Amino acid sequence: MTLESLNSLELLVGGQFALTRKVLAGILLPVILTYILTWLSAHWAKNVRRKGDPPPVPYAMPGLANTLQFAYDTEGFLSKTLRRFRDVPFRLRVGLDDLYYVPHGEGVQAMFKHSRDLSMKPIILLAMRDQFGMLPADVAVFERDGSGDSAKPLDGWEHMDPARRVFYNQHRDLNAMLNGAALDGIMARFAVNYTTYLRATSLVGGEGQWTKLPDLYAFLQDAMFHAACRSLLGEHLFELCPDLSRDFWEFDRHMLTYLRRAPRWMAPRAYAARDRVLASLRKWSEHARQTLPYNDPSLREVEYEPVWGSRLMRARAEMFDSAGFSLDGSVSMDLGFVWAANGNVIPATLWALLSVLLSENLTERVEAELAQCLVDSNEEGDGAFDVAALCSKPLLTGIYLESLRHCAATTSARNPVADGFQLRGWNMPKDSCMMSIAWFGAHDPDFWNTGRVGPDGKEEHPLDTFWAERFLEYPDDPTSGPVRKQAERSAYDTHTTTSPPSKEKKNAARGPADDKTAKPVGHGAALQGYFYPYGGGSRICPGRHLAKQELLVAVAGMMREFEIELLDPASARQARPDMKAFPAGALGPDRKLPVKIRRRKR
Ligand code: HEM
Ligand SMILES: *[C@@H]1O[C@H](CO)[C@@H](O)[C@H](O)[C@H]1NC(C)=O
Ligand SMILES: *[C@@H]1O[C@H](CO)[C@@H](O)[C@H](O)[C@H]1NC(C)=O
Repeated sequence: MTLESLNSLELLVGGQFALTRKVLAGILLPVILTYILTWLSAHWAKNVRRKGDPPPVPYAMPGLANTLQFAYDTEGFLSKTLRRFRDVPFRLRVGLDDLYYVPHGEGVQAMFKHSRDLSMKPIILLAMRDQFGMLPADVAVFERDGSGDSAKPLDGWEHMDPARRVFYNQHRDLNAMLNGAALDGIMARFAVNYTTYLRATSLVGGEGQWTKLPDLYAFLQDAMFHAACRSLLGEHLFELCPDLSRDFWEFDRHMLTYLRRAPRWMAPRAYAARDRVLASLRKWSEHARQTLPYNDPSLREVEYEPVWGSRLMRARAEMFDSAGFSLDGSVSMDLGFVWAANGNVIPATLWALLSVLLSENLTERVEAELAQCLVDSNEEGDGAFDVAALCSKPLLTGIYLESLRHCAATTSARNPVADGFQLRGWNMPKDSCMMSIAWFGAHDPDFWNTGRVGPDGKEEHPLDTFWAERFLEYPDDPTSGPVRKQAERSAYDTHTTTSPPSKEKKNAARGPADDKTAKPVGHGAALQGYFYPYGGGSRICPGRHLAKQELLVAVAGMMREFEIELLDPASARQARPDMKAFPAGALGPDRKLPVKIRRRKR
C-alpha cells in the first residue's frame, strides 16, 4: 500500500518536477517509515512479547507524535486506541513527554494497589503550574519534597524537615478534616446555607408564581458553589468577593485551555478569568490572616468560624506557611482545593436532578424516599436534612452512582518513585506519568448492564444514557444490577420474543415498594477496575463522602423548595455530557436546560 501510494504520487507530480518529487519523498518517506516502525513495535510488544516496555501508539509525524490527537480528540482517540490495545498499557508521546495509559480492568486495579511504589508528584506539579497558575518559586517547594505521601518517609528522605513534607501533610489534613465530625459539620452548614440560598434567591419569584430560568445548570452551579464555599471558606468570602461564583465558573469552562498550555496572548479571556479568581482568593486569604491568626489558641477546638471557615482551611494556611510557600503560592493551593471541591460534584448533581425531572415515575419514587429524610425541627424548618437517612436510601444512592458513571471523566495519574517498577509485567520507568481516565471503564459496553434488548435489537439503556436503576439489584429480578449478566439476559431475550414473562410488567412500573427492597451496588469486588470516578488506592479522593452527601442534599433541597418543569423536555432528553470539556473532570450538559420554576408552599 505504501509503495503504491508513493508511485501514484510520483505519477501525479510527473517527471518534470524532479525537485518537488524529491522534496515530497523527503517528507513522505520519513512519515511512512515512522508509522510503520511505531506500528511494528506496538504490534510486537502487544501481541508477541506481551511484557517489557509498553507498546507505543503508532504515529506518523516524528515531532508531533500523538500530541494533536491526544490534545484535541482525547475521547475519540483514546477509545479507538483502547479497543485496539485492550488490557495492554500503551505509551503515548505527547509534546516532549511520554505518557503511559493504563486501561481499566486489572491494569488500573494494579495501579491503585501499588500506592507505596507510586506517587502523584509530577501530575500535582503540572496541575499547580498549568491549571492553578502557581509560579516557579512555589512549584519548587513541591519539587524539593521527594519523601512521598505516607506517614513514613520514603527511603533516603527520613531526615527531611517534617514541616516541608508538603505531599504527606496535605494528604493527612485532607483526610482528617473531610471525615468524621468535621465532615458532619461541613455538611450541616452546607445544608443550611444551601436552603437559605434557595429561599432567598431573587431569581425565582414569590410563592406560587412561576418564573422562567434560562438554564437550570447555571442556577444549580451558583447555588451549590455559594453554599459549599460558605461552609468551607466561611461567611466573609462572598462579602469580600461578590463575583467569585461567576468568575469561578468561567475559569472552570477554560480548564482545557490551561491544560493545553495555550499562551496568554492566544487566550486572554481565559487567563483573565483565572487572574480574577486568584485575586479574589488572595483577598480572602489576606483578610483572614489579618483578622484572625490561624494559630490563635482560642481557635484550637473550633470547627468553624466565619473568617477562615472550616478548620481545614486554617490548618492548610499554617501548613503552607511553614512549608515555605509565598502568599501567592498558598492562594494557588486554595484555588486547587476550591476547584476539587466544586468542579466535579456540581455537574454530577445536575445529572441526578435532571433524571428525576425527566421522569414522572422517578419523581414519585424519589419523593417517597425523600419524605423519610426531612427534618422539621421547628415551625420555620431550618433547612436541615437527615443526611444519614438520605445516604441510606436505595433509589437515591442508585441515582447518585449512575450520575458519576454517566458524567465522570476524571483522571488518576501516578508515577513510579523508583527504578524497576512493573505494572502486570510492563515496565514503567521511574518518574514517568501513568494515567487512567474513569470514563472509559464506566462506558465499556462489554461490562455494564444495559437493560433488555428490544425486538429491534436496540438496548433499552445504552451507556450514553442515564438509567436510574442501573446500579440497583432488585431481589425479584435476576437481570438487575450494574454488571451485565449474559446468561440470564439471553435466556430472557429469547423468552420475550415469544411471550413476555410476568417479570417484565413488574419492571416497567417499579414503585416505592420495590425500591425499599433494592440493593445499590456501588463498590466492592463487582465493579473494581470499571468504576473509579474517585480514583483509588491511598490517594483516592478525600472528598468522596462529602460529595455523595452534598449531591443528595442538593437534589433533595431543590425538590423540597421548588416545583420545576423543563420547558423543552425533548431537548433535555437529548442532553449528554459535554465532550468539549473531556477529560477535565465530571462533565456538565452539552446544552442549556431552560425551566419554569415555582416555590412550594411551606
Ligand atoms: C463527584 C464528585 C467528585 C469526584 C468525581 C472527585 C474525583 C476525584 C479524583 C478522581 C481525584 C484524584 C484521585 C486519584 O488520583 O486517585 C480527586 C482528588 C481530590 N478531591 Fe475529589 N472528587 C469529587 C468531589 C470532591 C469534593 C466534594 C471534595 C471536597 C473538598 C474533593 C476534594 C479532593 C481533593 C482535595 C483531591 C486531591 C487529593 C490529593 O491531592 O491527594 N473532591 N477527586
Ligand atoms: C451558613 O451556615 C452557618 C452555619 O450554620 C450560619 O451561621 C450562617 O448564617 C449561614 N449563612 C447563610 C447565608 O446561610
Ligand atoms: C411510568 O408510569 C406509567 C403509569 O403509572 C407507566 O405506564 C409507565 O410504564 C411507567 N414508566 C416507567 C419507565 O416505569
